[in-house]
Amino acid sequence: MALSTGYSKIRTAVFISGTGSNLKSLIKFSKIKKSPISIKLIVSNNSKAKGLNFAKTYKIKKKVLNFKNKNSDEIKLLSILNINNIEMICLAGFMKILSKNFIKKFKGKILNIHPSLLPKYKGLNTHEKVLKNNEKYSGCTVHFVNSKLDSGKIVLQKKVKISKNETQVSLAKKILAQEHKLYPKAIIKIFSL
Ligand code: GAR
Repeated sequence: MALSTGYSKIRTAVFISGTGSNLKSLIKFSKIKKSPISIKLIVSNNSKAKGLNFAKTYKIKKKVLNFKNKNSDEIKLLSILNINNIEMICLAGFMKILSKNFIKKFKGKILNIHPSLLPKYKGLNTHEKVLKNNEKYSGCTVHFVNSKLDSGKIVLQKKVKISKNETQVSLAKKILAQEHKLYPKAIIKIFSL
């Protein structure tokens, strides 16, 4: 990924909506020497997102915008990202769809993690759909964000086997554990290309 930066590590913002376990794994990753990123901002559309607590724990700036007026909130957000010299965005369980215009402004610099083996099972309720279709495998995908939902270029995927008595809860847990490893690996891959 070609980024012009005067900083030693890529100034990154992580967008969340909920628990933020991927955020936590990215923060931990960002602190190791070989990590190309430094997390400077946490953004959420949900003021009650549990993951926002990591802002306090790790002394990272946070910003909540509810996205009720997406247009104006995205304009505010672009200005906040600008002020903080943010160069890359990692979506980590961020459940809002960014506009084409926003994505254009950060073209090629937004990553997402999705809990399925894309291009299969885009969108919501992936685990439910996977189990309903009696799939043998599922997994997770890190991909670049483009203007089509869950359709940007794939960086890395990890496959997991579905067990006999798998439930949505057990599958989500199994995949999430893999997500925590996959996101850092994908970031390393991007910056070593
Ligand atoms: C993760 O499983 C992530 O892949 C998924 O939400 C969960 C967030 O968990 N993202 C999506 O479904 C995006 N479409 P976390 O808040 O503990 O990182």
